[in-house]
Amino acid sequence: MKSIASYVPKNCITNKDFERIIDTSDEWITKRTGIKTRYFADNNEDSSELGVKAANLAISRAGIKVDDIDLVICATLSPDYLSMPSNACLISNRLGIENKPAFDIAAACSGFVYLLSLAKSFIESNAYNNILIVGAEKFSSILDFSDRSTCILFGDGAGAAVIGATNNENERIIDVNISANGKYNDFLMTPRSLGSNLNFSSEFDVSNIQATQSYVKMKGNETFKIAVKTLANDVEEILARNNININDIKYFIPHQANLRIINAVGDIIGIDNSKVVVTVNKYGNTSSASIPMAMDDIYKDGRLKKGDLLLLDAFGGGLTWGSSLLYFNGE
Ligand code: ACO
Repeated sequence: MKSIASYVPKNCITNKDFERIIDTSDEWITKRTGIKTRYFADNNEDSSELGVKAANLAISRAGIKVDDIDLVICATLSPDYLSMPSNACLISNRLGIENKPAFDIAAACSGFVYLLSLAKSFIESNAYNNILIVGAEKFSSILDFSDRSTCILFGDGAGAAVIGATNNENERIIDVNISANGKYNDFLMTPRSLGSNLNFSSEFDVSNIQATQSYVKMKGNETFKIAVKTLANDVEEILARNNININDIKYFIPHQANLRIINAVGDIIGIDNSKVVVTVNKYGNTSSASIPMAMDDIYKDGRLKKGDLLLLDAFGGGLTWGSSLLYFNGE
């Protein structure tokens, strides 16, 4: 990974702000989730725009030119347009990238780890030299602000990285372990978003569709339980198969969904607390952007250094999950 960057929109929403619109309290949100604030994008700031801002910075931090990018892939569950054009095409266009492949993937909160898996395969097959990966979410656009169990959890933001070819063993993505189980598809979903599940005969007029059906619905408690078990197993598996001890990890950067999940997984895998990166308190859950935003937080404050061995772990709707072991190679 040659660089990491992120973009945080400017509107800070506190738990107190939610107290004004739903029956909740700062105390409940803090105790159950660890979240204190999250940031929402402006109305005219789409998820691709958030992605462009992070991507621009990632390219300049990688020390390369826009023309050096061979492929753009974006992970998002809140794209500007549900079917086309993809956010990756919109991001490429605004960056000035032409005639290079660009596409989106849908893996919810596991999106960034899925992107790493794709980038690793493309690089190792010598297909491309520099791949721009972007996780970009405007989660506020799919939140039901009358559902107190979901609307307090999520935030907007974007993270981006440049993955470059290297012959140096200590600069590579060591391994990515991704998986999914569609059996649990109804744990987290947008039941009737204006996407391909729209029934042409009965719902021809899209203005008839209940707006709330486009919003995210979550079986929070069931998701919580399966998240802890899956994330911990996933980490233990990737460490064992690469013969790496948890003590060799410089930073553990899990998906930022809930502080209780992060702490529970940290305890099970036995990692020192000081190595666990936590940003859920500031940004809430920003889905595919959460891991790169967390990485950029420790990059910006000077903690993340070239050569650091990182362990990433994500879990999200689908259900999808994945982990990765990699060296950070940014300057
Ligand atoms: N304020 C006050 N009370 C609330 C709120 C709120 N914002 N939300 C729910 N409650 C109430 C409930 O109504 C319930 O009340 P009751 O006991 O009278 O019925 C009570 O609090 C407990 O509700 P639970 O849902 O059991 O609370 P829980 O401790 O499970 O916390 C939470 C809910 C925070 C959603 C948790 O389940 C969670 O974090 N789940 C996992 C989320 C996750 O990891 N998602 C995956 C990634 S996201 C993605 O892929 C898009």
